[in-house]
Amino acid sequence: MAGEKIRVMIVDDVAETREQLRKLLTFDADIQVVAMAGSGEEAIKTVAGAKPDVVLMDINLPGIDGITATGKLLEVLPSAQVVMLSVQGESDYMRRAMMAGARDYLTKPPSADELIDAIHRMAKLKPIRGGETLSPAAGMGSGGAGVGTPARLGKIITLFSPKGGTGCTTTAVNLAIALQSSVGPEVKVALIDLSLQFGDAAIFMKLQPPRTIADLASRANEMDAELLATVMVPHPSGVKVLAAPPSPEDAESLLTTEIVDEAGGNRLVKSILKFTRQEFDYLIVDTAHTVDAVMLALLDLSDMVLVLLRPIIPEIRGARNFLELLQKMNYPMEKAGLVINSVDNKRMGIQPEAIERNMMPALAHVPLDERIALTAANYGVPFVVKEPRAPISQAVIKLAQVIDKQFASGTEESTQPAETQRRLGLGRLL
Ligand SMILES: Nc1ncnc2c1ncn2[C@@H]1O[C@H](COP(=O)(O)OP(=O)(O)OP(=O)(O)O)[C@@H](O)[C@H]1O
Ligand SMILES: [Mg+2]
Repeated sequence: MAGEKIRVMIVDDVAETREQLRKLLTFDADIQVVAMAGSGEEAIKTVAGAKPDVVLMDINLPGIDGITATGKLLEVLPSAQVVMLSVQGESDYMRRAMMAGARDYLTKPPSADELIDAIHRMAKLKPIRGGETLSPAAGMGSGGAGVGTPARLGKIITLFSPKGGTGCTTTAVNLAIALQSSVGPEVKVALIDLSLQFGDAAIFMKLQPPRTIADLASRANEMDAELLATVMVPHPSGVKVLAAPPSPEDAESLLTTEIVDEAGGNRLVKSILKFTRQEFDYLIVDTAHTVDAVMLALLDLSDMVLVLLRPIIPEIRGARNFLELLQKMNYPMEKAGLVINSVDNKRMGIQPEAIERNMMPALAHVPLDERIALTAANYGVPFVVKEPRAPISQAVIKLAQVIDKQFASGTEESTQPAETQRRLGLGRLL
């Protein structure tokens, strides 16, 4: 809020370190150190009275350690954002810290810039944790239909993963088919491959598209239904596919820098999507793993962004960073959902519930099944078709049903499902 300072609490057992951190923070007029504690116990005792927005927590504390202290402190003051400080080489610790509720971490000694940046980042997350939500109108999403909207205005569901190889295409392809099967042939489902340079959704569906999205580049602003129909390829499931160009250089016509709008979005991609959503009820969009002009155009129009990750630390961190970016862009966070892929129930690893506690409840846990997933990719027969009863397929089918339930009534803006509503008030976005 304007004029209000960011309240910071420093927890470190070494008085000199506490003092150094406090001094570094005096460089920023927006930050106020409201409390310092020399132990975890002291921090837990003082936190309720001090009401910090951000807590800088040393991981190594005598008595109860920084990780345990974080968990307890958040029970007392759930709105606090904890930044963990540790010396290098404590990655296992960091993982545990994240699971205890820490939202970021810094290596000791942090520079003034690192520290101040982290505190500002954390402070920005606060409104969501407090349950105040960003107004969809203030965000980038297109929202629902307005005056003069055509009869059909399909819902755009974007799948994105910051890292490659996480299963984004696999999920997009299977989701589109599962959705088509769940809603029936009257409802039109499209799969759009916006991984323009190396898109492979068509391969996952054993399609050899004679035309691709690149063929729309020169006509993007004067599209008609007939043109779109000649470019989209039908899959036996009923899903129509707008495939990525056959080679990276063929994507060039869609990627020139002149076609970027004031907001940084790719105009051609936006025009194509805007027209296509008038022809389909659902557009499932597969993406490359980068936030570029294509992705910005897509985010502008997406009704739901599914962030995909596997339970692996770099991917958790990537997803976290992407969600944070969405928030910085004022993207309405109630439109963001999490899908945890390759969940390995048999082996020890990071449990999906731990990721959820630290981010948000996931809309799906898709189990790891190398045999089924690899066979599907190699033969171009999606697993929801080949093995619909397998747990990996069932998870995607359930996701399709959740999505359809959310949008089917056409009143999702006023009657959000409980899951989504709960997510609005959920603190641990990061
Ligand atoms: N749940 C799963 N269990 C096991 N393997 C999986 C699962 N999901 C996807 N895979 C496998 O992971 C590999 C990568 O999947 P996919 O191509 O869908 O990911 P991507 O994120 O789209 O990658 P790219 O970086 O190429 O865009 C494929 O071989 C796929 O079969
Ligand atoms: Mg892919």
